[in-house]
Amino acid sequence: MVLRADELQLTRGESVRDTAYVLSRHVAAIAVRTGGHSLVEELAEHASVPVINMLTAEHHPCQALGDLLTLRESFGRLEGLTLAYIGDGNNVARSLALLGSLAGVRVRVASPEEYELEPVAEAELLRDPRDAVRGADAVYTDVWVSMNDDPESAARRREALADYSLDDELLDLAAPGAVALHCLPAHPGEEITAEVLYGERQRIWEQVENRRHAQKALLELLIPSG
Ligand code: NVA
Repeated sequence: MVLRADELQLTRGESVRDTAYVLSRHVAAIAVRTGGHSLVEELAEHASVPVINMLTAEHHPCQALGDLLTLRESFGRLEGLTLAYIGDGNNVARSLALLGSLAGVRVRVASPEEYELEPVAEAELLRDPRDAVRGADAVYTDVWVSMNDDPESAARRREALADYSLDDELLDLAAPGAVALHCLPAHPGEEITAEVLYGERQRIWEQVENRRHAQKALLELLIPSG
């Protein structure tokens, strides 16, 4: 069941606790895409079925699962790989840092001032995108304006992040055989060039498909069989 905000009673003042009780009587798992992370935590506290974070302003773990699957398909392993993330220190960067560290992937994050990621797991935080990309096995970028960002900040963000674009020149600094990744939606000409997005070194369209495989595996893991 796909339930949008205006189809839930949450927007009519029902508590998160009651929503968790109601949904738990009808479904085997609840997957939520929202803004504030606390909503997911509160649902999980009260639901009797698994609650899956499908994106909050803070985290995007299902994306990172699909990304790790894509890396494993590309390199045959995860342990010892280096992933460089270029751009806004956002939900995607945070989840990559967390899950990457758990999977043995070294994660470097390069962001401009004011858009840095806070220290997360063992991620290395850098300023210059070239320092992050040098020798990396994967180079990842994401939108400069996320869906939970204030639209009025867009112009300022585009200016601050202008030097954090994934182009062929930057990718040339990575290890031989390195792949380019992006969680989409892409904005060619902003955080990635069309040459990289549709080029031979990207694995972005594999990432797209792997969201489905990773999430199916997650459901299988979380939902008791029988
Ligand atoms: N950082 C982006 C990811 C989109 C899949 C956002 O939150 O909008």
